[in-house]
Amino acid sequence: MRRPMVAGNWKMHGTCASVAELAEGLRDLALSSDVDVAVFPSSLHISQVLAGLQGVCIQVGAQDCSVEPMPGALTGEVSASQLLDVGCVLVLVGHSERRQLLGETDEVVGRKFAAAQACGLTPVLCVGETLAQREAGKTLEVVSHQLGCVIDELGVGAFSRAVVAYEPVWAIGTGLTATPQQAQEVHAAIRLQLAAESAEVAAGVRILYGGSVKAASAVELFGMPDIDGGLVGGASLNADEFGAICRAAGN
Ligand code: PGA
Repeated sequence: MRRPMVAGNWKMHGTCASVAELAEGLRDLALSSDVDVAVFPSSLHISQVLAGLQGVCIQVGAQDCSVEPMPGALTGEVSASQLLDVGCVLVLVGHSERRQLLGETDEVVGRKFAAAQACGLTPVLCVGETLAQREAGKTLEVVSHQLGCVIDELGVGAFSRAVVAYEPVWAIGTGLTATPQQAQEVHAAIRLQLAAESAEVAAGVRILYGGSVKAASAVELFGMPDIDGGLVGGASLNADEFGAICRAAGN
């Protein structure tokens, strides 16, 4: 049995004041012990959130890490070892906003994934197709390529200590959610691709859905056999809405 996971990606949102308020709201949630809950604040606010969530069963992760695992001369970057040092346990790699807007290649994503694991962080590998790719019937090909790059580089075993997030680019921040059937099709294909190398790894890996998840859509999405929870952007900035999504994963 895979433990469901709900993760909030706060992106480049938040001020010291709003982050404090959000952490306070999260503290007040009655969370099910059957669901792993995590939040990904901006790097600036990680320590504040860790302090604000002390004693609460919510993990804190970063939205990105450097390709270089150890500290060094790389201006503006944050290394996985530094993230671990402040108390992070997870890190997103390959979010589509970084792939699309900041030119992150599969090679760079693979190096970040490896850097995270080398330091003992759990990478959350984000994959997903654009609208044009979906309309061209290339969804499974695109996602399989993004996943395959990491498998080829690091071996399927790397996924025994990782999470995968399927996030169709056209559903992120647009209010358009993939239907449970559309999402399930891709999640099943991801698991099948991993199973071709290791049935055990495939059965254990958590595959989260992301893209305009709301409390109202979460129950049906999380009810699909290969959807193990969600990576939530906009809706994670509201503690009550996020809490409702976490509850949906526990049902
Ligand atoms: P969204 O973002 O829920 O606002 O669509 C999801 C994500 O980018 O992780």
